[in-house]
Amino acid sequence: MSTTVTMEKIVNLAKRRGFVFQSSEIYGGFGSTWDYGPLGIELKRNIRESWWRYMITSRDHIVGIESAILMHPRVWEASGHVAGFSDPLVDCKKCKARFRADHVAQAQCPEKPSKHPGECGGELTEARQFNLMFKTFVGPVEEDASVAFLRPETAQGMFVNFLNVLQSGRQKPPFGIAQIGKSFRNEITPGNFIFRTREFEQMEMEFFVKPGRDDEWFEFWRTERMRWYTEHLGIKAEHLRFHHYAPDELAHYAKACSDIEYEYPFGWSELEGVANRTDFDLKRHAEYSGKDLSFYDEETKERFVPYVIEPAVGVDRILLILMLDAYDEDVAEGETRAVLRFKPCVAPVKAAVFPLLRKDGQPEKAREIYTLLKQRWTVQYDQAGSIGRRYRRQDEIGTPFGITVDHQTMADNTVTLRDRDSMQQERVPIDRLVDELQRRIEG
Ligand code: GAP
Repeated sequence: MSTTVTMEKIVNLAKRRGFVFQSSEIYGGFGSTWDYGPLGIELKRNIRESWWRYMITSRDHIVGIESAILMHPRVWEASGHVAGFSDPLVDCKKCKARFRADHVAQAQCPEKPSKHPGECGGELTEARQFNLMFKTFVGPVEEDASVAFLRPETAQGMFVNFLNVLQSGRQKPPFGIAQIGKSFRNEITPGNFIFRTREFEQMEMEFFVKPGRDDEWFEFWRTERMRWYTEHLGIKAEHLRFHHYAPDELAHYAKACSDIEYEYPFGWSELEGVANRTDFDLKRHAEYSGKDLSFYDEETKERFVPYVIEPAVGVDRILLILMLDAYDEDVAEGETRAVLRFKPCVAPVKAAVFPLLRKDGQPEKAREIYTLLKQRWTVQYDQAGSIGRRYRRQDEIGTPFGITVDHQTMADNTVTLRDRDSMQQERVPIDRLVDELQRRIEG
């Protein structure tokens, strides 16, 4: 981990430059929920698009869906979430704060000066199970019969659509169903900015395979998922590692699980989980719905309930590691400046266009170029302040390319193209600018 990056620096930069704001801030904020600003949503959009292309459109036999957040309550009985989606909770008898029993060592008491739970002299209660699903009521009557849950994972929306996709898409195992969408968990100890929140966005893929082929597909997806982080998002390999679960760490539905962990400023922790969920979910939904969720293979004349390999990750957590991994500081003209060294394809703004002077037709020419580039990419136009300051403003939000219109542009239709990392400038004819940027952004 770079010595210069801290959570505090990232939280401040995220707010100052419009990546992430505290939700409902003018009312004092609201329990670990966050809003994404103009740059944050561009970064999120790039994460989703990269994942979608890598997992779905670039492959055969993986399709996307978008299932409802509110689902039949029986879904959550079948999946085991009603009975078992809980964390152990303890209360401090003195300050009444609640903590996850297995996170007490890292938790802080809300009293000031803050201490570890129990250090304030307050006794902790016995641990009891706390279900993490948010409950709501569907329809105008608030009674037990109308209770529904906000989904705590997107996965179940794909299991309950297994038959629909199989039949409408004429798929056969091995095939996958993927989706991106919001999930909700009433986490006992959310925290570390957007690392653990109560409302978050997941990208999950359920890959249905013939039993007996599951181990090899598990290995396949573990490798593929790690490759995406390093080769496509540009995350440094030394900041990533696998954590393979011991049998006693596995969830009730899993035969095997590997987390991809990232080295955050607060230590190594989960980024993504890759699990072999066996046939647990399809069998349970078959049992609870009364529908046959097995697959009949016409070629081999075999009937089986597919096993499922599931890579599952949160978009918010990826946004956090992209900012942490890209963060750098250097000294320019005696000032320490922050630079986000995003890979160009994930950078929220791809290029910024500047007139060197606010006269001699340079602003008009720069606006023409800006209008041309904006048809393809998210770009900015900036004519305020010295050119050095304008470059630094863009470096801080991770814009990989700066295009400057100067005196020579007006004579020969060339601009300077500045690279954020090398700070080298090259002259490029305006009529080659789009091709040159495309080559550099899309590699
Ligand atoms: N369908 C399996 C599943 O949901 P999970 O490990 O509970 O597995 C998958 O969640 C991923 O979703 C995690 O690796 C993490 O990236 C993200 N995630 C889970 N809970 C989160 C939370 N409270 N806040 C932010 N991201 C979360």
